[in-house]
Amino acid sequence: MVSQEFVEIRIEEIVFGGWGLGRCKGKIWFVPYVLQGELIVAEAAEEKKDYVIGKLLKVVEENPARIIPPCQWYQLCGGCVYQHIPYEMQVALKTRQVEEIIKKIAKIDGIKIRRVVPSPKHYGYRNRVTVHIRDGKVGFFSKDRPKRVISVTSCLLADEEVNNKLWELCLRRRLRNGHQTLWNSRHKAYSGFRQVNDEVAEILRSSVTSELEAGGEVLLDAYCGCGFLSEKAASKFKEVYGIDWNARAIAAAKLLEIPNCNWIVGNVDEEIPKLKPYIKNRNAFLLLDPPESGLSKSVVKEILEMNFVKIIYVSCNPATFSRDLVRLSINWQLESVEIFDMFPQTAEIELVGFLTKR
Ligand SMILES: C[S@@+](CC[C@H](N)C(=O)[O-])C[C@H]1O[C@@H](n2cnc3c(N)ncnc32)[C@H](O)[C@@H]1O
Repeated sequence: MVSQEFVEIRIEEIVFGGWGLGRCKGKIWFVPYVLQGELIVAEAAEEKKDYVIGKLLKVVEENPARIIPPCQWYQLCGGCVYQHIPYEMQVALKTRQVEEIIKKIAKIDGIKIRRVVPSPKHYGYRNRVTVHIRDGKVGFFSKDRPKRVISVTSCLLADEEVNNKLWELCLRRRLRNGHQTLWNSRHKAYSGFRQVNDEVAEILRSSVTSELEAGGEVLLDAYCGCGFLSEKAASKFKEVYGIDWNARAIAAAKLLEIPNCNWIVGNVDEEIPKLKPYIKNRNAFLLLDPPESGLSKSVVKEILEMNFVKIIYVSCNPATFSRDLVRLSINWQLESVEIFDMFPQTAEIELVGFLTKR
């Protein structure tokens, strides 16, 4: 049961996910849309055994850094959580969250951060959005549960062309329930994964490319999508193997027509063992860019049995990244990380970990 009581809480810090952490009556509360040091009034939205998810009712004492969020759907729509925070502060928060999570889960204190890359665009950076359509409403899912569709006619994170498409969709009369991804025409619409923030993705790719500059015999690009990350580094290797289970992504990778690339449709869990005999004792490099859930135990086991020279691990979730660091730690150690703010105004974090052999 959720109590209807209002509580006053002092926010201690903003943790991964954009949650403000505070304490009340021996319980930890997580409340969104707040800032460190603020005194707030909240009510319980969800009560768990060890913590409470709170709903922000009022900010009694504001952090002086707080700004007015520009989006009219902020706090209703589930997308953004940091619009009330100045951009430089958002990047600093995310950097601290990465340090804290790696320290807590991987037990590595004081990681080496090579650099932190802010997004050149703070708004209007998304090359696509996925909107949901329900009973004539077009929009995004609500922040609170049960998830509802919040009607929107534009999104401040999307670029102008995507917003024009969203507006046209809203004007349409008969709409079928479901969802639609609206793309910028710079990208061919295909159903596979593509990085959403072109400018930051390009900086991330150049970082990966320069790390692979020395080249070698084999590059294995696991979770390769349409080959975006290995495309520029491919010429430095005799052979490149890319694996992704999305056939359309692999078809897009093939269109790059890179002669030494072998693009494979399949599950990384199943394909790595098959490639093992070709790669095992060669000068091979591993590029990983898994989904949020990170690496499966079987993929970790395979990696540990292979003799890679270097691992570059691109991650969109510092928690699963840290868990995988622990699993790989028998043979591998984290040399450094780079943090890329691919998703300003949201809680999402993108990082690249550079792993070296112990
Ligand atoms: C974060 S995306 C990375 C894509 C690519 N590296 C890029 O930068 O565009 C993760 C990719 O992993 C693929 N994927 C997820 N789980 C997989 C699995 N078990 N086996 C193969 N591919 C998988 C998805 O289809 C998606 O393309």
